[in-house]
Formats: sequence, structure tokens, C-alpha cells
Amino acid sequence: MTGLAQIRSTFLDFFRKQGHEVVASSPLVPRNDPTLMFANSGMVQFKNVFTGAEKRPYKRATTAQKCVRAGGKHNDLDNVGYTARHHTFFEMLGYFSFGDYFKPAAIEWAWTLVTKEYGLPKDRLTVTVFSEDDDAFGLWKKIAGLPESRIIRIPTSDNFWAMGDTGPCGPCSEIFFDHGDKIPGGPPGSADADGDRFIEIWNLVFMQFEQVTKEERIALPKPSIDTGMGLERISAVLQGTHDNYETDLFRSLIAAIVEETSVPAEGKYKASNRVIADHLRASAFLIADGVLPSNEGRGYVVRRIMRRAMRHAELLGVKEPLMWKLVPALVREMGGAYPELSRAEALIEETLKLEETRFRKTLERGLRILDEESGALGQGDVFSGETAFKLYDTYGFPLDLTQDALKPRGIAVDTDTFGRAMAKQREDARQAWKGSGEARTDTIWFDIRERIGATEFLGYDTEKAEGVITTMVADGKEVSELKQGAKGTLVLNQTPFYGESGGQTGDHGVVRTAGSALFRVTDTQKRLGDLIIHQGVVEKGAFKQGDAVELDVDHARRSGNRQHHSATHLLHEALRETLGSHVAQKGSLVEPDRLRFDFSHNKAMSAEEIGAVEARAAGHAGNPAQRADACPGDVDRGGEALGRRDALRREIWR
Ligand code: ALA
Repeated sequence: MTGLAQIRSTFLDFFRKQGHEVVASSPLVPRNDPTLMFANSGMVQFKNVFTGAEKRPYKRATTAQKCVRAGGKHNDLDNVGYTARHHTFFEMLGYFSFGDYFKPAAIEWAWTLVTKEYGLPKDRLTVTVFSEDDDAFGLWKKIAGLPESRIIRIPTSDNFWAMGDTGPCGPCSEIFFDHGDKIPGGPPGSADADGDRFIEIWNLVFMQFEQVTKEERIALPKPSIDTGMGLERISAVLQGTHDNYETDLFRSLIAAIVEETSVPAEGKYKASNRVIADHLRASAFLIADGVLPSNEGRGYVVRRIMRRAMRHAELLGVKEPLMWKLVPALVREMGGAYPELSRAEALIEETLKLEETRFRKTLERGLRILDEESGALGQGDVFSGETAFKLYDTYGFPLDLTQDALKPRGIAVDTDTFGRAMAKQREDARQAWKGSGEARTDTIWFDIRERIGATEFLGYDTEKAEGVITTMVADGKEVSELKQGAKGTLVLNQTPFYGESGGQTGDHGVVRTAGSALFRVTDTQKRLGDLIIHQGVVEKGAFKQGDAVELDVDHARRSGNRQHHSATHLLHEALRETLGSHVAQKGSLVEPDRLRFDFSHNKAMSAEEIGAVEARAAGHAGNPAQRADACPGDVDRGGEALGRRDALRREIWR
């Protein structure tokens, strides 16, 4: 068996031949689940198909799904670089049955793929089943012909899989590969199961239930199948190593790093090379899916990942920004399977370069302080929480970067003091805000922003998404319910609605509950920079705090805005070409049906000049390269790139 790309396509082809639809990976930011930070497994995009809430034209599907486990419940960030199998980003291969076939076919196909297509020897495979699942036990015996000693019953939650606190779930059965007795560790269920010898390669979940609330579990409309196999792991097995970083894909990413740094891949710098390779993948895929570095939520996760890699680049002795130079190598390896990566190449490079350039300004000084303050400390000591806070606040060191830097020396950080310093800073900001007379009327937004944090904007990539109502405001006060006919404002944890800014008016659209309540959004605004508020009226039913809702942006209006936004760039370019490069934008207004563009020039334009500008702008409109120049991303992504561009600009200006 050869490289990762072929292992991926062998999997998808095999299940396509068994009547499965090959479905593209969903974006890393789940559209259909407001509670998950990132897609963490293949079934996330099918969650509502399992429960029957969503219908698709197929009953069998197979995917290679992009997953990130670096924030929220599943967080592997701290381990990356120091273990053989932890990643922040990974791919999960899976096949799914939505009420179609069940255990017998699922087990049969899994076994055929592993032993025939991938050619793994039967005597190196062991399986586990949920202890009460006699069915699965019997099927493994019959189909795989495994001896009973290699079908291990596991009584714990290890063999009962759930997406999260709620959602589809069921007993599962796992396939393990035995790397042989040269590696320490025992079979699953044994006392030394944690060793590296027996590695789980595939999880088959027999989806039968939906966890509706913590207490209530109901049966799914029909028994279903959800499976997940980590591509990096199976590739390691098939390439004869138990270390994911020894596979072809990681070898070539690490070779690209070595090429740039001239530092050897192994030895003292092994962990740093691995951290950079892993974090490059996570950062690039997250940026491609619209997650740009910021100080909140998902954006802060990507910033933490990027900065952790950037510190490791510094450890390699690199003096110039490094990450962005590695993007072409990544696109070469993975752009074929994930075209969104190739499409976003320029944006990824630009974002990484900007972040690293900025961070480098403070990185060296921060590291010097870290060294000085920890110089006298040794194994088992605790680093000052106040200094960790100063590193965060003044030098942009996320807490986990400081922890990561001290971990190899066995030094912990006083996180309690860090937390208190953070809380005090918030309180000071609040007092300062309250004292400023002009802003007093808006105190309500400050309080809300402080309590619930920024709204995550999903509109770079989508016009529809789910969200949870975090609070509502009517007549200047927070309310817990908005009834039919009431005018008010909804605040959600995340939204695809664009809040008015940078001359572009806010989105309109609708917000619905599953119970068919409807709120019409007649304007979207921003407060305090990153709190997005939806103003409008309840046309039907009622809305309560905590309701999960579907958000749907008015597409026609958004695309009018998008076109007029792109047109401002074309116009700007045409003006510069016609009148000279001194022409600078002074302001603009973008609406669905018109735009206004203010610019500086020393005299009135002649009729010929106006005609020439019109002709040039129209010519550029037909030329994608020109449009791309005007605003990277516009061509492929539509004007939502405006949002990305805004974010980049914000970053530049900060
Ligand atoms: N959803 C299952 C998992 O992630 C297959 O392990």
C-alpha cells in the first residue's frame, strides 16, 4: 500500500462500489450544531439524517471528513509533538447507513476492506464489542472467523459512542491492530491496554439511540451505522510504522520545514518539527473554512495553534516568518482531495504571514522575560501567574504557549492567579466603560458582551446555520422571552448574518425554531466590534433564551451587497488606472441595489475620463485575475470574502 492519498481513495472507492454516495467533507465549523466548536468526527454532518429531521437522496454515504480536536470537549493540543498519534487536525474515513443496512453488512464490509483491500493479516487483528452485544460478538465470529479470545467484550463507555452530551449514539465495536511484541502494551480491556502495541484503527458505531437531554434517551427511527477510521493511523499501520509522523504526508511536510530551516528533522528538534507540521495543517484548513485568528472563540483557537507553531519555529532558530512558506507543500499534498485548500492558498499565506510578522515583534522579548523569570525554577516548581498574564496581555502569549514552553522542564504555571488577573482586567475595563458618559446608554451591550462573549461570525462561508439564543433585548432591557408581534433584538452564540460595518449594510433574513416560530431580521448591527445583534420582529410564535434556532440570510440581498462590494474594488482599480495611482478611497457605501465610492482627486473628472473609468471597470469585471487582485478571495468565495478581508484589515490596523 502506498501513500495517504491512495489509502483515502481506496476506502472511498470500495464503499462507492457497495452503493454508498461519496459525500464531500463538511466544513470544520459545523453548520448544523451550535454546540460543537469544530467537526470532531464524520457523523457530525449527518446528525440530523440519523434522527430523521433531515432527508437526503441517499441512504448510504462514505466520507473523508476534516476534523479538529483542539478546543472544547476534545482537546489534543497539548500533546501534539510529544506523542506518536496526537493531532490537532486529522481526517476521519467513514461509511454510514441511514436506516438502511445494519450490523451484518457493516461488519462484513469493514472486515473485507481491512483484510482484502488493505491486506492486513488477520492474525494481527483483534476486535472489541460492547459487553451486552451478543449479536456483534456472533457476527465477528462468523464473518471474520476470529477466535473468541480475540473478540473482547468491553463493559465500559469505551464501547458506547456518543457525539456529545446530546445527539445520536449507540454501542460500538472497535478493530485493533497489533504492532507486535517489540512494542509494550496489552490487548484492549487488559491492565496494560494503554501501551502502544494494540492500536485502535476503526470504530463501528451501531447507532440506535438519540440522547435528547442528559436524562432522556429515545430510539432512532431506524437502526443506523456510523464508522470512523483515522486516516493518519491506518496509514501508519499500512506503511509499517506505529508513528503517524513517519507516514509519507508528514515526512514531506517535515522535509519542507527542513528545507527552509536547515535544521535536522530528528534529534533535539524532532518535537518542534512535528508541532509545526501538525499545526500548519490545522491552521491552513481552519483558515480555508473561514476561521481567522482573533481573540475570541474559534478564532482564538486558531491563533493559539498558530502561535504555538511559531514559537517552535523560533526554537529552530528561524528569524523570518516560516509558516506561510510551507503552504505550497501542504497544498501539493492535500489540495487534490480538498480543493478548498487550493482555492484559499493566497488567503492562508497572507493570514499566516501577517500573524507571524506581528507575533515575531513581541515573541523574542516575551521569550526573554519567560527565560529570566523561570531561570531559577526547576522540576516541580510553579511559574508566576502574574508573569504569565503579562506575557499574555503584553506579548500575545496564549496561556498554553507559556505552559508548553515550561513543560519540558517540569514547571507548571499558577493558573489561578492568571485567571484572577484576567478577571480583574475585565472588571477594570467595565468600570472605565461605565464612567464614559457618551457610552452610558449602551451599557447594556457592554454587559452582554462581557457576560456572553463575542458572536462568532459564520457568514464567510455560509448563509444558513444553526445557533443558540444567548439573550434578547426589547425596549432597552434584556428579556427572557419575545412573543408574537414583539419588536426586539436577538443575540446568538454564532451567526451567518453580516453586521453593518465598513460601509456595507447589515444582512436581512429569518430566524426559525424547530417549533416554527419565526423572527424576521430587518437589520443586523455590530456592537463593541464583535457582538452581532439581529434586530426585527417576531412574526409567529415565541422565542426564549436558550432556544436552538435556524438562521437564514436573505440571499438576494446579500448577493446584491456582494456584487456592489466587488464593484467598489473594480471601480477603485479603474480610477487608479485612469487618473493615477494617487487615487485613494475615502469611504464607501454598499447596499443591495447601489454603491457610493468616495475618493480623492484634485479636480473634477471630465466626461472622457468618466467614460474610460466605466469601460475599464466593466472590462475588469470580466477578468477574474483582476478581480482577485482587487480583493483576494472574491472570485472563488464571492463577496463574503469582504468579511475575511475586513478581518484581515482589522488585524493590520490593530
Ligand atoms: N463517530 C465515531 C467516532 O468518532 C465513529 O469514533
